Amino acid sequence: MRVLVTGAKGQLGQDLIVHIEKYPWAIYGLGKAELDITNVEQVSKVITGFNPDVIIHTAAYTKVDQAEKDRDDAFRVNGEGTKNIAKAAASIGAKFCYISTDYVFDGENKIPYSTEDKPNPQTVYGESKLAGEKYTKQYCEKYFIVRTSWVFGLYGNNFVKTMLRLAKEKDEIGVVHDQTGSPTYTADLAKFLIELVQSEKYGTYHASNSGQCTWYEFAKEIFKQAGLDTKVIALTTDQFPRPANRPKYSVMANSTIENNGFQILPHWKESTQLFIEVLKEKEKVFYKG
Ligand SMILES: NC(=O)c1ccc[n+]([C@@H]2O[C@H](COP(=O)([O-])OP(=O)(O)OC[C@H]3O[C@@H](n4cnc5c(N)ncnc54)[C@H](OP(=O)(O)O)[C@@H]3O)[C@@H](O)[C@H]2O)c1
Repeated sequence: MRVLVTGAKGQLGQDLIVHIEKYPWAIYGLGKAELDITNVEQVSKVITGFNPDVIIHTAAYTKVDQAEKDRDDAFRVNGEGTKNIAKAAASIGAKFCYISTDYVFDGENKIPYSTEDKPNPQTVYGESKLAGEKYTKQYCEKYFIVRTSWVFGLYGNNFVKTMLRLAKEKDEIGVVHDQTGSPTYTADLAKFLIELVQSEKYGTYHASNSGQCTWYEFAKEIFKQAGLDTKVIALTTDQFPRPANRPKYSVMANSTIENNGFQILPHWKESTQLFIEVLKEKEKVFYKG
C-alpha cells in the first residue's frame, strides 16, 4: 500500500509516521515545506507523482485563538487546502482520510455527540474545519472524516506538556472545571487511523480516548501519574477568558467505531499514564515526587 500523510511535521503527523513505519508500506510523510496544501499546482503534482492508495490529511491551521483574527488564513488552509487535497485524492481514486475536530459542535449537548448530530461551530477554527468536511464529502466518494479532541502526544505542544512545565514553576495551577471533553493520545489515534484506512468502511467517525473529564480533572490526573503534589485550583471559563469560545461539552460518542467492528480507543487515564511513561523515557524528564 502507498500512504501519503500531509502535515507530517505536526503533532499527530509525526506519531502517525512512526506507527505507519511498522507496516511494509511505501510512506510519503510531507511537511509544509514539501507540500503546502494551499498550493494547487504543487498538490496536484506531488499527489499524482506519488500516486498513493491512501491520503491521511492531518495538515491544518490549528491556532484556535489566532484564527478569530485570521479568518482568511484559517479558511485558506482548513477549507481551500482540504479542497485541494480532496480533489487530488479523488482524481487518482485514492482513499481520503480527513482529520476533523470536536469544535464543529456548539458544546450545548448534555450527552455525547453522535456522528448524526448537526454541527454548529462557534469559532472560526471550527467553521473552517467544517468547511474542510464539506469539501471532503463533495469531492471524495472514498472518504473517512475522523473527528478527534484534546490531542496530546510526544511531538508537539499540548496540555499535558504545559501542565508538567508549569508544575516546575508553580506550586498551584488554576485550570477550568466547566469544560468537559475527551483527551486523545496521538499514538492511540494513529493506530485507529491505520486500521480504518485499510478498510472500505467509509463515513464519519468520532475518535477520542474513551471516557470524559474536565480540564481540571485532566490536570489532576496528569500530576497524579507524574507523582507530583502540585495543587490544582478549579476555575470557571469566565475566570480564564480566551479569544475563541471553547465548547462547554464536547464529548463524542465512539459508537461508529464499535458498530463498524473496530476497537474503541483506550480510556484517557490509561493513555495519559502511558504517555507520561513515554515522556519520562524519551525526554529523560524526571519529576519530583
Ligand atoms: N491538537 C488538538 O487538540 C486537535 C483537536 C481536534 C482536532 N485536531 C486536528 O487534528 C489534526 C492534527 O492536529 P495537530 O495537533 O497535529 O496539529 P499541528 O501540530 O498544528 O499540526 C498541523 C500541521 O499542519 C501544518 N500546516 C499548516 N498549514 C499548512 C499548509 N498550508 N500546508 C501544509 N501543512 C500545513 C503545520 O505546519 P506549521 O506548524 O509549520 O504551520 C503543522 O505541522 C488537525 O487537522 C487538527 O485540526 C487537533
